[in-house]
Amino acid sequence: MFSWTSSHQFHKMKVLAAICLVALNLINHVTSEDDDHKGWQPKDASFATRAIHVGENPDYYRFGPVVLPIYMTSTYKEDAPGKPRTYKYGRDGNPTRASLELLLASLDEGKYGLAFASGTAAITAVAELVHTGGHVICSNQVYGGTYRYFDLLAHTNHKVEVSFIPIKYDTNQAEEVRKAIKPNTKMVWFDGLSNPLMIVCDIPRIAAMLKKTNKDIIFVIDNTFVSPYFSKPLNMGADIVIHSLTKYINGHSDVVGGGIITNHRELYEKLKLYQITAGAVPSPFDCSQVIRGAKTLEVRMQQHMKNALKVAKFLEGHKYVERVVYPGLKSHPQHELAKSLWSGSSGMMIFYLNSSITNEQSADSFLTSLRIIALGMSLGGVESLAELPFKMLDDWMSQSHRYNMGVTENLIRLSVGIEWDASLIWELDNSLEKLV
Ligand SMILES: *Cc1c(COP(=O)(O)O)cnc(C)c1O
Ligand SMILES: *[C@@H]1O[C@H](CO)[C@@H](O)[C@H](O)[C@H]1NC(C)=O
Repeated sequence: MFSWTSSHQFHKMKVLAAICLVALNLINHVTSEDDDHKGWQPKDASFATRAIHVGENPDYYRFGPVVLPIYMTSTYKEDAPGKPRTYKYGRDGNPTRASLELLLASLDEGKYGLAFASGTAAITAVAELVHTGGHVICSNQVYGGTYRYFDLLAHTNHKVEVSFIPIKYDTNQAEEVRKAIKPNTKMVWFDGLSNPLMIVCDIPRIAAMLKKTNKDIIFVIDNTFVSPYFSKPLNMGADIVIHSLTKYINGHSDVVGGGIITNHRELYEKLKLYQITAGAVPSPFDCSQVIRGAKTLEVRMQQHMKNALKVAKFLEGHKYVERVVYPGLKSHPQHELAKSLWSGSSGMMIFYLNSSITNEQSADSFLTSLRIIALGMSLGGVESLAELPFKMLDDWMSQSHRYNMGVTENLIRLSVGIEWDASLIWELDNSLEKLV
């Protein structure tokens, strides 16, 4: 088994931890009146420390609450007509949302964060950067909702030209993108890890090619499946990162939300205008839930990976399983690429039931016999989920598109949670044995 942490990284971690301690000491002495509520934003603190502290500063509040209050208010008192204090109106701004936005930016090591009412609202906000007559190059392996948006709405309603380029495990992605570029190309869109085939996006190579070819093309990565804990697309050359907060970042399957992170001030300003003008903002309560969930992102991701590796190895050795596709396994065609881009692999994997022992009902009976692992859409929560993309992607894309993508009747997707690993393996084993 490989290890994701080299001794070099370990040394780097020790240095970061030391910087963190110094920074923590410093904030204990910051009590100035003007210090804004947004709190402490250390540049070099470790991921876990940032996840727990960024956006929250107890010293800003009279009572020193360790956890940020939820500002359940739709409007704010002004000092004089046209002289609001920090915020004017709940859709335009809210302190709880502002804290979440700072946190999102910090987790992805970006400058600007924006929070939305769903991952899909974040996607449409970014897609809106391309206007009529513009051209978008989109991987044909993107999230179903993204596919549907570009295929139906952007194309039909807004006359945006969209090229879905065919991506397989061994595709030279930068070359495919380069071939699809036209004079009116404005945006390139990939998922950091694709659904459901688990294709890894070669972000640095695509970014380098775009920089050489036309640096005005906006490179977007939906990194929901990987999480900001394991990879930072902005540091690899992406211009915009999107997350469905519904998944790993909140991690407890009790909020629907979305986030956008970027380093470009101009893009941020356009997206901010769209956020408050289209109005798909998250509620203060949901923001608070996500802030709470994100505090444990590091420990959760580490456990998701440990469990996923054990489950993937178990499935790989099972005679009723034909193939397992998990980027953390050596058998993944892009394992070396994943290792070079990420510090670990999340809980997302697929496996194919052994077609020589299965029939059309096999996947259904396998999935309905699961008890701990729930049969359901979504991913990234502490609880394990399983689904059958062949039947459950119905809303998103046609059967022929699914077949073209390589989504077959025996392909099962797992979002491995952080339950006791042995109970997951016991359950999968039991349900597989029931197949014959
Ligand atoms: C779930 C998901 C979305 C959409 O997010 P919602 O919060 O459900 O609107 C977008 N991209 C990916 C990769 C997702 O998994
Ligand atoms: C699939 O099942 C058949 C019949 O039991 C078996 O011979 C074959 O080895 C299995 N395939 C894998 C990949 O385990």
